[in-house]
Amino acid sequence: MEYAELANEVSKKSNIKVSKKDIERLVGALQKTGDPWVLADISDFPVPAVFETLNALKDRGLVSVSDSSVTLTENGLLAVESVHPVEDFSCGGCEGRGISLEHFVDIRDRFNEIQRSRPAASHDFDQGYVTPSSTFSRFLIGYERGDIEGRDILLLGDDDLLSIVLGLSRLPKSITVVEVDKRLVGFIEEVAGAEGLDVSVREFDLRKPLPPEHVGAYDTFYTDPPETLPAVDAFVGRGIASLRSPGSAGYFGFTRREASLEKWWGLQRLLLGYKVVITDIIHNFNEYINWGYERDTRAWRLAPVKVEPRVNWYRSALYRIEALPGFCGNAKDYGEENIYEDAESSTT
Ligand SMILES: [Fe+2]
Repeated sequence: MEYAELANEVSKKSNIKVSKKDIERLVGALQKTGDPWVLADISDFPVPAVFETLNALKDRGLVSVSDSSVTLTENGLLAVESVHPVEDFSCGGCEGRGISLEHFVDIRDRFNEIQRSRPAASHDFDQGYVTPSSTFSRFLIGYERGDIEGRDILLLGDDDLLSIVLGLSRLPKSITVVEVDKRLVGFIEEVAGAEGLDVSVREFDLRKPLPPEHVGAYDTFYTDPPETLPAVDAFVGRGIASLRSPGSAGYFGFTRREASLEKWWGLQRLLLGYKVVITDIIHNFNEYINWGYERDTRAWRLAPVKVEPRVNWYRSALYRIEALPGFCGNAKDYGEENIYEDAESSTT
């Protein structure tokens, strides 16, 4: 099969840049599973383009689609024989993050308990939250790098409840959350009150520039932006604006489920423009819990097979950045603009 030609066809139809390599990964994945969500996970390119590729393979008689799965046909099996197999060699002990979970175990256990009563993910704010071990690992890596203890920390949005883990650790100098969702503000405040945690929470829409008291005031920020370039510019750019000095650090998630490598390039250019350096990118660090509104998403509408996901399939990389002398952030006001959707989006 001519994968380059197929990549061109899918790129045109989906308006998403897809490479031969992307298609080869999907074809490799088809030899392992017929579950559309697992295929999207393993293929590691934007979901609308993954599903468009499945349609193109179906048109060529290489896959067949049933009510529950996508299967390679006999011709399909012959066509994919020469493709590099898709393997998962990630470490079971750390769930592939490279950070052992066997530290601060009391905090981990307490957090697991507390987060059980958390608010559900809200479609209105494009929310989806990560597994408790993903949140806990964000704390562990920050601690390991010296970005937690004695630091002033800003969380720009906190549907993953990292502020609670940080509060329970009692290690940061201060913990501040700006969050748009009133329910989350209420939940974090309630937990902070009950557990005696020093967490300051403020309702805030990140489409607006940070108020002056937050600019240049923090050693570390964490955020998890929606996956469009304007949104990542708003969230991460504000994070960078909040940093105090060279050596201050930021952490955020960025996926390939809703972002092509073209968009990754756009993100990395943006970061370099702010004069911060990327110190780490950890593949599939963040694992999202299926958010419960799948049937209302674009991904569901595009899915060739309408089955509920059985396993967590949406994962993102963790980026760590560090500020260099001369760094600057983003103070643009996006007003009421919808900065949360583009051709590669699928969970909105
Ligand atoms: Fe490991």
